[in-house]
Amino acid sequence: MTMNKSWTSTSPEQTLALGQKMGEALRGAAGLIYMTGDLGAGKTKLTQGIVKGLGFDTEVTSPTFALIHEYGPESEVIHADLYRLDSYEELQEIGFEEYLDDDHLILCEWPDLLEDEGLEPIIRLDLRRVDGESEQARRITMTSDDSALGERMASIEI
Ligand SMILES: Nc1ncnc2c1ncn2[C@@H]1O[C@H](COP(=O)(O)OP(=O)(O)OP(=O)(O)O)[C@@H](O)[C@H]1O
Ligand SMILES: [Mg+2]
Repeated sequence: MTMNKSWTSTSPEQTLALGQKMGEALRGAAGLIYMTGDLGAGKTKLTQGIVKGLGFDTEVTSPTFALIHEYGPESEVIHADLYRLDSYEELQEIGFEEYLDDDHLILCEWPDLLEDEGLEPIIRLDLRRVDGESEQARRITMTSDDSALGERMASIEI
């Protein structure tokens, strides 16, 4: 069953706090998380919270140029930003497919090329600005076909 939930964040701090709760719900999970939404929507901000909630006390910066940053003692958490990626082959060349196993959680911004490859995410997170609301308002929507994980995520309140 597909699980769905939306939250409205009214500040970067609230998005960070939501991410932290998501990270706690995601402990032990592996697979891809697709993060969609415009430039500046808050995907990296949300990721910062998620990495913290997963239990890694480390600075998270946008991997816009590096494509991929690794977090955790065993590189358990991968943060990817594929905005500048031209082809999936480019990702294969840097060894991306080694992360597609039960030991890695991959948070991916701009995942279009992965989607084109037919790779299925365990969770989708979509962020967008809210028309007619404050400059800082964001609607954050979670969708998951994994009912146990989706339910855990959907139970999050902010
Ligand atoms: N409610 C909010 N949640 C998250 N960020 C917010 C919010 N309100 C304002 N902001 C600001 O919006 C910006 C979000 O930047 P962030 O790098 O997280 O976006 P992004 O979606 O990762 O963009 P990109 O696609 O360029 O990587 C930050 O400057 C942040 O301070
Ligand atoms: Mg980003």
